[in-house]
Amino acid sequence: MPVYFDHNATTRLDPRVLEAMMPYLTGPYANPSSLHRFGRSARDAIERARQQLADLVGCQPQQVTWTSGGTEANNLALKGVADAQPGGRVLYGATEHPAVMEAAESLRSRGRAVEAIAVDHQGLLDWPAFAAQLASSPVRLVALMRANNETGVIQDVTRAAQMAHEAGALMHVDAVQAAGKIPLDFSALGADLMSLSSHKLYGPKGIGALVKRAEVDLSPLHHGGAQERGLRGGTENVAAIVGFGAAAALAVSELAMRAECASQLRDRLERAVQQLPGATIFGAGVERLPNTLQFGLAGYEGEALLMQLDRRGFGVSSGSACASGKGEPSHVLLAMGYPRDVAYSAIRVSLGRDNTVDDIDRFVAVLRELVAAGKS
Ligand SMILES: Cc1ncc(COP(=O)(O)O)c(C=O)c1O
Repeated sequence: MPVYFDHNATTRLDPRVLEAMMPYLTGPYANPSSLHRFGRSARDAIERARQQLADLVGCQPQQVTWTSGGTEANNLALKGVADAQPGGRVLYGATEHPAVMEAAESLRSRGRAVEAIAVDHQGLLDWPAFAAQLASSPVRLVALMRANNETGVIQDVTRAAQMAHEAGALMHVDAVQAAGKIPLDFSALGADLMSLSSHKLYGPKGIGALVKRAEVDLSPLHHGGAQERGLRGGTENVAAIVGFGAAAALAVSELAMRAECASQLRDRLERAVQQLPGATIFGAGVERLPNTLQFGLAGYEGEALLMQLDRRGFGVSSGSACASGKGEPSHVLLAMGYPRDVAYSAIRVSLGRDNTVDDIDRFVAVLRELVAAGKS
């Protein structure tokens, strides 16, 4: 049986989520903006899901705006703030997902000064560098992810938000990888904006959300409809929204159990990987997502090892799914100060609900075999 170890790329649709979605795929089809009873019933389903999502992150339902996923939520946050609020620089963590990095970089063409914030060797924000950047000239927005998709490293967003607020800046948090894996509290983190995505937590693909404080002024990415209080026009994907809501509700009730199971498996795997010759665990020694292990084996190329593991029935990643195939080593590992050859060796294992101790032990046995057989 092939084993899927790529849950940070995406997860399987939970059958209970599919069950919640089915009536909205096969039954009621009305436009939620229609005023008749059919429309009102679709609207009610959307608002129930909004409450479920709000419960996942401890915010009010009216703070939730549906988007097509994490990428759109990040773009809406960064471009939306930049368009609505002139002046001030935009800062982003050097290990952000491309959906933040490239959205931020695109703001240069709109005349915004944009800067990356350095991280240390473990992937944590470089606090003195960040403080100096905040002090040097006005900052409008700081974007920092809660948890990294490659290493799983968890950032102290609360501290960053406090510093950002003292400097008069807003705080955006990409919580796409954190949601459903670790507790998430919008207010406690000090976030002004937060991005979420359904398919990372056993919900359907193509649906996400941006959570924002009511006071934050935001311009929409596109125009043409009054949906989502004018922030995201277009007829809503009711079934996907219902699915995201159901997945969020399951994440709330199963979070502790999922995290405990994942961390036991991950720690078992990490102990075994540490025994392999030339192994480097990226982000070792700092708080990480319970399901994620990124490591490198000296002299091995991550993508070649990935293909060998694939032939042996294991689906892993060599970095982020979006970056693989690009031929460039992970920008995350480069930002952490690893040389290119070490960054090229990276393999990411991201565990999920269906993985077992047996999966881990079989994977370790195959990894040992491949290493004993020589360089890939
Ligand atoms: C940290 C992070 N942000 C944003 C995204 C983009 O989310 P989506 O695939 O829903 O567009 C991802 C997806 O891998 C991610 O890991």
